[in-house]
Amino acid sequence: MNSILGKPIVRFSGATFVYADRVALDKITLDISEGEFVGLIGPNGSGKTTFLKGILGLIHPSEGILQIFDCACEQLRCHHRARIGYLPQKERTDPDYPITAWEVALMGRYGALGLIRRPAQADREIVLESLKAVDMLDRRDIPFGNLSGGQQQRVLIARALAQRPKILLLDEPTSGIDAATQHRLMDLIQQLHQTYRLTILFVTHDINIISPLANTLIFLKTRLYAKGPPESVLCQETLSLIYGKDVLLTQREKMPYVIVSDTHAG
Ligand SMILES: Nc1ncnc2c1ncn2[C@@H]1O[C@H](COP(=O)(O)OP(=O)(O)OP(=O)(O)O)[C@@H](O)[C@H]1O
Ligand SMILES: [Mg+2]
Repeated sequence: MNSILGKPIVRFSGATFVYADRVALDKITLDISEGEFVGLIGPNGSGKTTFLKGILGLIHPSEGILQIFDCACEQLRCHHRARIGYLPQKERTDPDYPITAWEVALMGRYGALGLIRRPAQADREIVLESLKAVDMLDRRDIPFGNLSGGQQQRVLIARALAQRPKILLLDEPTSGIDAATQHRLMDLIQQLHQTYRLTILFVTHDINIISPLANTLIFLKTRLYAKGPPESVLCQETLSLIYGKDVLLTQREKMPYVIVSDTHAG
C-alpha cells in the first residue's frame, strides 16, 4: 500500500530487552516512520508484545536505545503516552462489571484529562466521533460484557482512537474473531490509517491478512530477521528462518499466500 511516510517516530538502536531469565528481544535496530503501517510477525514468544511494551515505555532496554517522538523511552511523559493508543493482546474485563461501551471508549480521554478534570463537551465529542468511526455509536449504552467479541474489539479500538493517538499499537486485534468480522475490522483499520494518517503497529499471526495492507512487515524471532515492504520480505528463505519447515509460501489469486502451522520460539 502506498502512502507518504514522514520522519522516524520510533527508533530502536541496538535495543535489547530482558526479563528475569531470558532475552526477549536482542539488539534490535530499526526505524518506524510517521504514517507507516507496520505488520509485526513472529511465532509465539518471539518478542512482539515486548516490542509494543517497549514503545509504550512499560519496559526499558537493558542495552541500546529506544526513542519515541525523539524522546528516550525512559523519559516518556504522560503527554507522550497519551498519544500512543494501545489495544492489548488480552483485555481482562469482567463480563459482569457494569460498564457501557460509551464508558469504555471514554477511558481513552483519561490520559488527556489527568486526575482532576472531568470530561468536557469536547471530550464527549471526540468519544462520539471515535465510536462512530468504528460503527458502534448505536450500541454505546449497551454493557460492554454483552457485546460480541468483534464488537468489543471495535469499542476497544474506539477507546484507543479517543486518545487522538499519533501511534496505534494493536496486539492481535483480530484473534478469536470470525473471518467476515476480521475482514471488516481490517477495512476499518485501513480506513483509520488513511483518514488520521496514523502510524500503526499491527501484531498478527496471519501474514495473509496484513500483507495487502501494510507498508512494511517486520519479522521477529528474538532478533530482527527482516524489515521491508511485504513484496520484498515475503520469501521462502525468510519464512523458513523464522518458522523452520512448518511454512509454505504459495500463491492465491496471484498474491503470495503463506501457510504456517503453529510453532513456538522456545
Ligand atoms: N513478564 C514476563 N516475565 C518473564 N518473561 C516474559 C514476560 N513477558 C514475556 N516473557 C517472555 O519473553 C518472551 C517474549 O514474549 P512476548 O510476550 O513478547 O512474545 P510474543 O511474540 O508476543 O508471543 P505471542 O505470539 O505468544 O503473544 C517469551 O519467551 C516470554 O515467555
Ligand atoms: Mg504477544
